[in-house]
Amino acid sequence: MSLEEKLNKLEEMRTKAKLGGGEKRIESQHKKGKLTARERIELLVDENSFEEFDMFVTHRSHQFGLEKQKFLGDGVITGCGKINGRITYIFSQDFTVFGGSLSEAHAEKICKIMEMAMKVGATVIGLNDSGGARIQEGVVSLGGYADIFLLNTLASGVIPQISLILGPCAGGAVYSPAITDFTFMTKNTSYMFVTGPNVVKTVTHEDVTSEELGGAIVHASKSGVAHFACENEADTITKLKQMMRYVPQNNLEDPPFVECTDPLTREDESLNKIIPENPNQPYDMKDVIGSIVDKGSFFEVHADFAQNILVGFAHLGGRSIGIIGNQPAVMAGVLDSDSSIKAARLIRFCDAFNIPLLTLEDVPGFLPGVDQEHGGIIKNGAKLLYAYCEATVPKITVITRKAYGGAYDVMNSKHVRGDMNYAWPTAEIAVMGSKGAVEIIFKKVISDSDDPEAKLQELTDDYQTEFANPFNAASRGYVDDVIEPKTTRPRLIRAFEMLETKQDSNPPKKHGNIPL
Ligand code: HXC
Repeated sequence: MSLEEKLNKLEEMRTKAKLGGGEKRIESQHKKGKLTARERIELLVDENSFEEFDMFVTHRSHQFGLEKQKFLGDGVITGCGKINGRITYIFSQDFTVFGGSLSEAHAEKICKIMEMAMKVGATVIGLNDSGGARIQEGVVSLGGYADIFLLNTLASGVIPQISLILGPCAGGAVYSPAITDFTFMTKNTSYMFVTGPNVVKTVTHEDVTSEELGGAIVHASKSGVAHFACENEADTITKLKQMMRYVPQNNLEDPPFVECTDPLTREDESLNKIIPENPNQPYDMKDVIGSIVDKGSFFEVHADFAQNILVGFAHLGGRSIGIIGNQPAVMAGVLDSDSSIKAARLIRFCDAFNIPLLTLEDVPGFLPGVDQEHGGIIKNGAKLLYAYCEATVPKITVITRKAYGGAYDVMNSKHVRGDMNYAWPTAEIAVMGSKGAVEIIFKKVISDSDDPEAKLQELTDDYQTEFANPFNAASRGYVDDVIEPKTTRPRLIRAFEMLETKQDSNPPKKHGNIPL
């Protein structure tokens, strides 16, 4: 065969590989409102930057007639491309080939890019669209999944791992995305569950659709399994690319710096008026965040889940930060199990990847109730406490209003290694709210009084004046400074700059034992 003939053959094979399971199946994929594995990669990476590996890999199975059905690439496209100019490793499951099911060879291809990404120190992105284990291959396919789970775990905290769910993701397959750092789902075309509607019907007699059981909205709002529920595939990919602008490539690198056009010294008068006179009246912590960070740079994570806490990334003076903010506009910003877990997860991600943390605090405490106690608020709240305690990145807190009880300690207080802790003059730092406190310590005085209601009010006002301010904490150095709200942005930029070279560590150990 001449070189020309060989090149023609190569071209022919590439064309065949690019067709995946063939035109008909591609058409059926499009009819479902889904893109093909290759179209997704094209949307994801910078133009002409994708380098594909293992295009000619096929499965090695001889059972159930599979030997007669071979597709080049075996149902997954793997390789490396650039996203916003940075190298990223990618696998994209091809539903047109055996429903994107995972064979031994398919798993090997995924493991290969994951291992390479770990050596290189680059993000891995998985585009999931699969019917699960390749049923004809049996245990070999299960082994392939386990190989991926192990690498997901070993890579955790070393390189960012991000999962996009763009079709089915069921059975044990869900545990790979679950171990990765962030999960994006597409509304209406993706679902995740351990067992599908048919099994659910058999076992628990519940009638439920795939969307109701494990669709994007459910996982982004109820279970918290997904961090993002996106409108369609293009929206999913756009959001992912936006998020990557805040995140470094590995645990030894600093986050990327972006140019900042928002003046570093910008003050905002509106912050001086944002805290309502009445301490029980809500305001929106998103407005505070929006006013402090570089204009338009807040990228919210887990927006639909546990909305009593806000988490996300932002740029401050062009530098990435992670933000945790109690949200007084939802359940008064109280901490419960879900919000504790939500915040702890972001803190641990940021700490693993050198992203400094800003905490905006207005919290009346932990949520009382049988549901919360029986649901493990003790161990779940402890996750948040543990995450703050162990984090060694620069950590700054601004107490805008309430910092009550255990929640004062937890929310990055000075005592858990907060580096700079600021309070606004409107801060109330106390063991509990004034009325509750007075009802306990002056129970007898109030009941013995001629006018218990008036007495309660009088004592509450006294307690409020004495304790509902930041100066007791400031007199002990638990608050480093009481700042005028409008100056928060310049003060924070200066403080993070001051902490840029911070070094701190935890005692040597194999690993801690976070209260799971
Ligand atoms: C082999 C599979 C497959 C699988 C789908 N296909 N799933 N081939 N192994 N797991 C093939 C189909 O035979 C079909 O081939 C093509 O993919 C498209 O499938 P359809 O059923 O026509 O598509 P659709 O109607 O969209 O339904 C998609 C689906 C369904 C819901 C995913 O295919 C399905 O239920 N698949 C089985 C899911 C499952 O039970 N997987 C095992 C789970 S256990 P042709 O040739 O017709 O195009 C598991 C364990 C992992 O995954 C454990 C890890 C620890």
